[in-house]
Amino acid sequence: MLNEVLDVVDHIPPGVFIDATLGGASHSEGILDRRIDIELVALDRDHLALQAARHRLERFSERVRFFHNSFSSLEEIFNDESIPLISGFLFDLGVSSPQLDNAERGFSYRFDGPLDMRMDVRQERTASYLLNNSDRSELQRIIEKNSDERFAARIAASIIRNRPISSTLEFAELVKNAIPAAARRRGGHPAKRTFQAIRMEVNQEREELIQGVSASIERLRPKGCGIVISYHSGEDRIVKELFRNVVTGGCSCPSKLPCVCGAVAKGQLPHSGLTASKEEIKENRRAKSARMRVLESL
Ligand SMILES: C[S@@+](CC[C@H](N)C(=O)[O-])C[C@H]1O[C@@H](n2cnc3c(N)ncnc32)[C@H](O)[C@@H]1O
Repeated sequence: MLNEVLDVVDHIPPGVFIDATLGGASHSEGILDRRIDIELVALDRDHLALQAARHRLERFSERVRFFHNSFSSLEEIFNDESIPLISGFLFDLGVSSPQLDNAERGFSYRFDGPLDMRMDVRQERTASYLLNNSDRSELQRIIEKNSDERFAARIAASIIRNRPISSTLEFAELVKNAIPAAARRRGGHPAKRTFQAIRMEVNQEREELIQGVSASIERLRPKGCGIVISYHSGEDRIVKELFRNVVTGGCSCPSKLPCVCGAVAKGQLPHSGLTASKEEIKENRRAKSARMRVLESL
């Protein structure tokens, strides 16, 4: 959703912009190209993504600071770099195509590889550790919490029965066999939701999202904009709630009655969430589940 992001960035005040999920740097490149009065603070916890992005953004090197960090460490970065206020932020969540397409990273149920799934390889806990060491109820909880998988209990039981599990294809096959045949025929690859759930747990994606977006909202200057693109309904709900809290100023009064708690609105929502255009979905199937939310600070 590059054009949609650039349309928002066109209207923000000059200053520091946070790209919390640098990835292949297409958004960052577009922003730096479009706005010469923007300085970029760019983060990725994947060292390979960061390496490629540094190269792509070489011509802007005087306006970019790179960080090999998780976005949950944004508060620390703001303090260490003495950044009191920011003009905008972008979180384009989830995994990138290079991560999915590299079998060695273990993110894909289509290619055989080790059960890794770490975005940051400095981290100790891999998918293999999680799958081979968690108990049944913990596995069921992880799958249920992070996906709409109806058969989480059967999948968790099958993981326990078939341990040790050593590769992505072995795991994908096990998940497929745990789902009743009739249900397997609906909704894409039968292992898709479980892979997503395990990946989200390995990378603590919900916790990261709440910390990173909250810290960024706190630093948003008046008229600044925050953008989050999510590909998962649970994550989108978290973003909606965080943004709504800014718009209502934390008001807890019943929605149909006038506010009496004295809360003051600190932001507005220019729209209720955008989806990718048909053309973009044709070019990139992943964009089908994308939802972009924007918060404008008052
Ligand atoms: C969908 S891609 C971003 C694509 C990017 N917007 C572009 O223009 O190419 C998501 C990226 O965010 C990174 N990422 C995901 N969660 C992160 C986190 N908590 N902290 C830092 N980087 C993260 C991933 O490693 C991946 O490279």
